[in-house]
Amino acid sequence: FYRFPLRLVHGVPLMKPIADDWQKVESFQARPDDLLIATYPKAGTTWMQEIVDLVVNEGDLEKVKRAPTHIRFPFLEICSPPPIPSGIDILEETPSPRIIKTHLAYKLVPKSFWDQNCKVIYIARNAKDNAVSYYYFDLMNKTQPDPGPWEKYVDTFLKGDVGWGSWFDHVIDWWKAKDKHRILYMFYEDMKEDPKREIRKVMDFLGKNLSENILEKIYQHTSFQAMKDNPMANYTSFPSSILDHSCSPFMRKGEVGDWVNHFSETQNEVFDAKYKRRMEGTDLNFRYSI
Ligand code: A3P
Repeated sequence: FYRFPLRLVHGVPLMKPIADDWQKVESFQARPDDLLIATYPKAGTTWMQEIVDLVVNEGDLEKVKRAPTHIRFPFLEICSPPPIPSGIDILEETPSPRIIKTHLAYKLVPKSFWDQNCKVIYIARNAKDNAVSYYYFDLMNKTQPDPGPWEKYVDTFLKGDVGWGSWFDHVIDWWKAKDKHRILYMFYEDMKEDPKREIRKVMDFLGKNLSENILEKIYQHTSFQAMKDNPMANYTSFPSSILDHSCSPFMRKGEVGDWVNHFSETQNEVFDAKYKRRMEGTDLNFRYSI
């Protein structure tokens, strides 16, 4: 399959088909009851989607098994040639309330979402685990730029020279935005530490007061193993010409701290130095182990 090059859109590198169709994304019309699930790629998007779907459907497993994840949650900015469907074309046909997935940087989100005062759930993941997960994803996703060797990838990631741009800009800009809009800012590490506590936050945000039984059901259905085994959640139904699970499964490890198995001492020092510079002055803190 064709690995798309990156093109800058307002300074953010996006895959060429998205950049080519940018007008269409920018002028997207949100509806007031749209819910946006926003993440930097590989921060736990799919996990949150499953949780939200079950919360909205009050734990009814039959409803969430109706279609694979990429059909249930249209991907706002994906406007690619077949076989990838255009997110916006699907969304225009989707009845309300819609649950929409995006990886867009805050400044690129279509203005209509803010005009309509839409709710957003943002999930952030620590930079090192996020980089490792993105590396494996770039290996297996044949539309993304080739990640090259891991030794060089860390630098590429730090520079933000990857699809959807800099991790730093992404997590920091969304963090600042949470004070201006209806944004629930979540952390992958918190979700791993205490999934039920974090599912409750989602329930509260969505105004759903569900029983302990339902909470238990949601917790079970959205565990890493359950999702890895679930063909509606694990992306195995996606065209294999695009996602090649033989390179790396989509549901890869699902852990906090896998970065220690990948970063060399030097890479870690370089990373930490840049990290310190970029995160200075924010009160946004990440955990690198739990
Ligand atoms: P790893 O590559 O570290 O395993 P996204 O959905 O944003 O693309 O993120 C994918 C990452 O989230 C992968 O990380 C994947 O394994 C992890 N993930 C997906 N479902 C999960 C779950 N239920 N529990 C923990 N991690 C999960």
